Amino acid sequence: MKQALTKQAKLDQIRADILDLNICEGLRQNATQLVFGDGSADSEIVFIGEAPGKSEDEQGLPFVGAAGKFLNEMLASIGLERSEVYITNIVKYRPPANRDPLPEEKAAFLPYLRQQIMVIQPKLIVTLGRHSLETLIPGLRISECHGRPKRVKIPVGRQGASTMQGAGEQRTELYKNVTAKEQTQPATPQRAANDGGVGGSADEQAIMSLVILPLFHPAAALYNGSMRQTLINDFAKIPKVLEQINNPKPAISKSKESKYVASNR
Ligand code: URA
Repeated sequence: MKQALTKQAKLDQIRADILDLNICEGLRQNATQLVFGDGSADSEIVFIGEAPGKSEDEQGLPFVGAAGKFLNEMLASIGLERSEVYITNIVKYRPPANRDPLPEEKAAFLPYLRQQIMVIQPKLIVTLGRHSLETLIPGLRISECHGRPKRVKIPVGRQGASTMQGAGEQRTELYKNVTAKEQTQPATPQRAANDGGVGGSADEQAIMSLVILPLFHPAAALYNGSMRQTLINDFAKIPKVLEQINNPKPAISKSKESKYVASNR
């Protein structure tokens, strides 16, 4: 009988695909190594930053420089260790001189990010900074929505993984806010995951419902007093957001419901 791969084995396979398919060759040539992700593949929370910097490029791990130290401190402040969550970036090679990642670089890595999400099946994604937010929910401004969780349905899985290099125009279709109509449709998060591979067959596409909490980027907030405090305050909401996801309140409580029914008889 074919043995199911562990989540970590599936992540390793995605990492190998990025290397084998030479995704984002231009960035790769200037970088020391791929910075794929770090932490627990079984985590309920995934943190997504922008792109590796100098320290990350040297060590092959995300968020290990000054911004990473700050991130670790904030994690500790809510009782979490880095090893208990999963951390990755939109772009997985360091852009030269830490310049902003280009739209085509973000688009090239997006299918692989989608596969990572599909494998991990987090309940909460915390976006760190505007690049991460804009890639996951195009059109939202971080200055307006930081600290406010949003439930979204996102396509995840494998579709287009090996063909999307440079397909920047597909970016805006990949993640969208949930409309009232979509909320009534069931999500199918398990479909590709159950297929035994990384994310199902090559054209497999699944829709996953999860919550995204947009936060400022720790590097931007590090030396900016008011943004730093805002980030710390927003970060402190994570346990409550998770609690609400895990124990959703019914729209109408049982007691209120029975009163409502009684008064409408
Ligand atoms: N900034 C990021 O966005 N990612 C890292 O991994 C480090 C710094």
